Amino acid sequence: AKLSVRDALGTQNASGERVKVQGWIRSVRSQKEILFLHVNDGSSLESLQVVADSSFDSRELAFGSSVEVQGQLVKSLSKRQNVELKAEKIEVVGNCDAKAFPFKYKERHPLEYLRQYPHLRCRTNVLGSILRVRSEATAAIHSFFQPSSKIKVPEENFFNVPVFLTVSGQLHLEVMSGAFTQVFTFGPTFRAENSQSRRHLAEFYMVEAEISFLESLQDLMQVVEGLFKTTTMTVLSNCPEDVELCHKFIAPGQKDRLEHMLKNNFLIISYTEAVEILKQASQNFTFTPEWGADLHTEHEKYLVKHCGDIPVFVINYPLALKPFYMRDNEDSPQHTVAAVDLLVPGVGELFGGSLREERYHFLEQRLARSGLTEAYQWYLDLRRFGSVPHGGFGMGFERYLQCILGIDNIKDVIPFPRFTHSCLL
Ligand code: 4AD
Ligand code: MG
Repeated sequence: AKLSVRDALGTQNASGERVKVQGWIRSVRSQKEILFLHVNDGSSLESLQVVADSSFDSRELAFGSSVEVQGQLVKSLSKRQNVELKAEKIEVVGNCDAKAFPFKYKERHPLEYLRQYPHLRCRTNVLGSILRVRSEATAAIHSFFQPSSKIKVPEENFFNVPVFLTVSGQLHLEVMSGAFTQVFTFGPTFRAENSQSRRHLAEFYMVEAEISFLESLQDLMQVVEGLFKTTTMTVLSNCPEDVELCHKFIAPGQKDRLEHMLKNNFLIISYTEAVEILKQASQNFTFTPEWGADLHTEHEKYLVKHCGDIPVFVINYPLALKPFYMRDNEDSPQHTVAAVDLLVPGVGELFGGSLREERYHFLEQRLARSGLTEAYQWYLDLRRFGSVPHGGFGMGFERYLQCILGIDNIKDVIPFPRFTHSCLL
């Protein structure tokens, strides 16, 4: 039988079953008459130990080569693994030119170095772990929403010319929430961010949800906190080794920081309070905090520290700062909208969302002020025909992975990062 490395390693009471395993050689070691190989196929962090006798030529078996091994699964004598594969036949599928191969056996290459090889870096332990976590988190997010969701919306419409890349699926999700009540979407979104920052990509994945009959920001924040915590717990229990590798080798202390986030209730402060806090510390900042101005990354990071490294919701932003669809709080003298951002340690803004303006006349005026009335008649229609209070949010998926794994640069949590002037692959 053909087995993945993961399944081979999981075999209980191995007793000489004949199996075939395919993968890439991670290490070769010869000892007297015996040859030890470690073979990895990406199905787990751990590699399968293959034991061969001296009839196999070790010069053929280079680090990085792809191989197919047939043999018997047996209990291992070593304490380090449960089972090993006693080779009967080893076939080199594709040779690896070890001299030219950019990764060296037993060397731990920094993430910046690996980034130069987007086509090869997924063969390393660390990228392997990050991308397995990414895959688990994707599945966990889908299952978080599955019981409540009826439909997944494709955001793009290719039949209108010109074609645009979507920056968000929100407005289309609002259409769907007007029929299916609770909906979500999870797909690529695009921003022409002219930024070399560690948390911006030109193409990133966003999880967006929209909920009808939603009355308050409180209810929205509950869903956000639930999504973050449930997804993270699922990932932690489904791929603990991969998470541990990232925590141990990339971000020492991250395990505790993450636990701290999971066991505490997220905090809530208003934008106005946030600005007051920042003003007390204005000597720390390049950008002077003031009411009516956007929060900068440095401000976000300070606020999270100030809150004891617990994720914090900032709510009720100035109306003038926010897009036309956010719900007017009708307050004075400071005029705000029911917007919410979640700021998290290490990353800053992770979620953005709001209650939506569901009142026809309010929305009509906001659209007029933005000069968008004509283009958004269909959006106004949603308020003419059975409008409901509703709200939603978007979470940047790569920033989520950065946050839980403690990875400094967003380019390391997506297989093929696209950013300003750079599309290596
Ligand atoms: O705050 P944003 O722009 O919100 C929206 O697009 C709303 N329409 C979402 C909604 O309510 N349905 O983006 C949401 C999140 C941000 O909080 C951030 O985590 C992430 O998307 N994000 C980016 N991630 C990586 N690279 C970029 N250039 C990003 N821009 C936003
Ligand atoms: Mg935002």
